[in-house]
Amino acid sequence: MNDIYARNIHKHYDNGRIRALNGVNLDIANGEFVALMGPSGCGKSTLLHMVGGLDKPDLGKLVVADQDLIKTRDLTSFRARTVGFVFQLHNLLPSLTAIENVMIPMHEIRQSESSRRKRALELLDKVGISKRVSGLPSQLSGGERQRVAIARALANSPPIILADEPTGNLDSKNGEQIMALLTQIWKTDGTTLLIITHDMSVAQRAQRMLYMRDGELSNNLPHSLCDDTGSAISFGGCFPGTKRDSERDIEVRS
Ligand SMILES: Nc1ncnc2c1ncn2[C@@H]1O[C@H](COP(=O)(O)OP(=O)(O)O)[C@@H](O)[C@H]1O
Ligand SMILES: [Mg+2]
Repeated sequence: MNDIYARNIHKHYDNGRIRALNGVNLDIANGEFVALMGPSGCGKSTLLHMVGGLDKPDLGKLVVADQDLIKTRDLTSFRARTVGFVFQLHNLLPSLTAIENVMIPMHEIRQSESSRRKRALELLDKVGISKRVSGLPSQLSGGERQRVAIARALANSPPIILADEPTGNLDSKNGEQIMALLTQIWKTDGTTLLIITHDMSVAQRAQRMLYMRDGELSNNLPHSLCDDTGSAISFGGCFPGTKRDSERDIEVRS
């Protein structure tokens, strides 16, 4: 079953002068890990925002976790229950501590303050920063801030994680650690994971890569990223194709 089903998605800005999305079709199965690549300005973030219910397409059909997002009126509730976002810049509130930031999305779900706090502590432990729960974002390192952002994304146990260049602002060591964490969460929690990245070493962790250009999606890697045989440079497998993770078959959740 598909977690994300998009057909002929269009999104235009500036009275149609900017065609950010130009008839995108996208199918992502439950529990799948997909990397989305493409040059700056090609529409990657716009697509992620549509899938996550941050904005609505102008045209097309979009069903995410069984919800028709064109028809859904209450996108706030959809977002709180269904998707966790991780952005390039952590987007933490500067005046709130780590644990308070993680608790923010939980306010959309009815539960007691003590259970929110308990859950936030568990999540901060899960992302490896249980000792920094009272730190303000300004007191944390870049890698620690991104860990808090991941804990916040997991707050309401969403079935889908959407990450927009999550390592784009980190050095390679921290970027590697953040990707190891996201991959581990994907494996253990069975979430669907869609990651936008410019980094082939990030993309090669995914089961499948998609390439976007001028608001259109393609399975074909551009020649600049291929060697003579058509395989992706610094990528173990041939592109396109599905790189199954032998440790974990995709679980099809109903
Ligand atoms: N809110 C907006 N208003 C006007 N133009 C926008 C808006 N968001 C994105 N765009 C434009 O849409 C195009 C796609 O942007 P974006 O999805 O951010 O690309 P990417 O994430 O691939 O870099 C760009 O030309 C960008 O300037
Ligand atoms: Mg972007």
